[in-house]
Amino acid sequence: MIGKAWSGRFSKSTDKLVEQFTQSISFDYRLLEHDITGSIAHAKMLGKCGIISQEEVEKIVQGLEAILADARAGKVEFDPSAEDVHMNVERLLFEKIGEAAGKLHTARSRNDQVCLDIRLFLRQQISGILSSLVDLQSVILDKAQEHAESIMPGFTHLQHAQPITLGHLLMSWFWMLERDKARLASCAERVNVCPLGSGALAGTTLPIDRDFVARELGFDSISENSIDAVSDRDFAAEFAADCAILMTHLSRFSEEIIVWNTQEFGFIELDDSVATGSSLMPQKKNPDVAELIRGKCARVIGNTVNLLSMQKGLPLAYNRDLQEDKEPLFDTVDTVSGAVQAFALMLSTARFNVKRMRQAALQGFLTATDLAEHLVRQGVPFRTAHEQVGKLVAWCIENGKELANLSIEEIRRFAPNAAPSALQEITLDSSVNRRSCYGGTAPAEVRRQIEKARQILAETKDSQALEHT
Ligand code: ARG
Repeated sequence: MIGKAWSGRFSKSTDKLVEQFTQSISFDYRLLEHDITGSIAHAKMLGKCGIISQEEVEKIVQGLEAILADARAGKVEFDPSAEDVHMNVERLLFEKIGEAAGKLHTARSRNDQVCLDIRLFLRQQISGILSSLVDLQSVILDKAQEHAESIMPGFTHLQHAQPITLGHLLMSWFWMLERDKARLASCAERVNVCPLGSGALAGTTLPIDRDFVARELGFDSISENSIDAVSDRDFAAEFAADCAILMTHLSRFSEEIIVWNTQEFGFIELDDSVATGSSLMPQKKNPDVAELIRGKCARVIGNTVNLLSMQKGLPLAYNRDLQEDKEPLFDTVDTVSGAVQAFALMLSTARFNVKRMRQAALQGFLTATDLAEHLVRQGVPFRTAHEQVGKLVAWCIENGKELANLSIEEIRRFAPNAAPSALQEITLDSSVNRRSCYGGTAPAEVRRQIEKARQILAETKDSQALEHT
């Protein structure tokens, strides 16, 4: 068996308990593919700079590729005594190619290597999350288009406020996700910086070519300061924070779906394929997907706090604490990817009960503001109009009436300046159609938003396609 990489300095072997406590292979095996990609680029660079021979490069590259093939075929067994993924790969390489394996770690430390691996991993994951966000946005757009004219009650304080269109509300989700995408794309720029060549912390005396490695691996740039490069996990905390905001959005959408799905609201029906039943109550159909997205938001927020707390007391440069970055990152990636996809499925298969939404919008005096604005157009100061309509509403409540079925005489008892056109202006359709200011709830405005959003998505898809050519 091959010994520890540091066996030269040590006279005792590592205690089993310490080995178990310090290992990271049980989770960082997920970096294997990126570790090998990085090592292949590093080996090629060593060859190009004449630090190792071409023959050695070939042996190393072939060996690494063979390990990757074994791993993909599920044929690799990791050794916890080899601590982490980097040492495991080196050990497997020894088994494949013998002594030449010992040259791979030239001019490199695990400190810069692990940063490289996480950056490669996150770069790939961000791009995956971005494309599933685009899929979710497309679902939202289709639903918004279908419901550009469907009227529902709009809420503030979860109280009936003003009539809105369902398409308008759905489009608000679209724009939230658009900002999430922008945040993640901006984070990807800071992720896409190559740290390799920073060594343990101070660089190397060997004549390496850092730009070559960066180009091989598709990085935009190389890090400027080796101490910073091996210590920096800003990008990890930033990614987690961006994901926490994204999950908070999904959690809020989920909460809305949970409320709409209650018997009391009855605004939405989830498809059987995305709902779950109760083991006890035969009649139940529960919105568990939405509830779990709301619940899982907590762990993504927690992972952000975890990553920041882990770093807050660290002196420069590398400290082993940094190994603790991986589990919160992996968990964030898995949770967010799952949540975005599950939400898209839930929404795409859901049916909105537009009749019930419209019915609900007729109750609760939602067009009271429209009546006040009607009075403003008749020259009444807004505050007076507000007071008059408020008194009218109180009278309606006492007498069991809704605004929609009042006569002009009844309105004029409280608002003497009301013109007959008021009756028409306080209908639901008039209320939404007239809210046609930019960004307003009018169907025409919702369609304008949808048009703009479709253009944005088409451009994103074009630029993604370009990236992959
Ligand atoms: N497993 C370690 C990590 O994830 C790799 C770097 C270890 N470096 C060290 N000097 N012990 O951070």
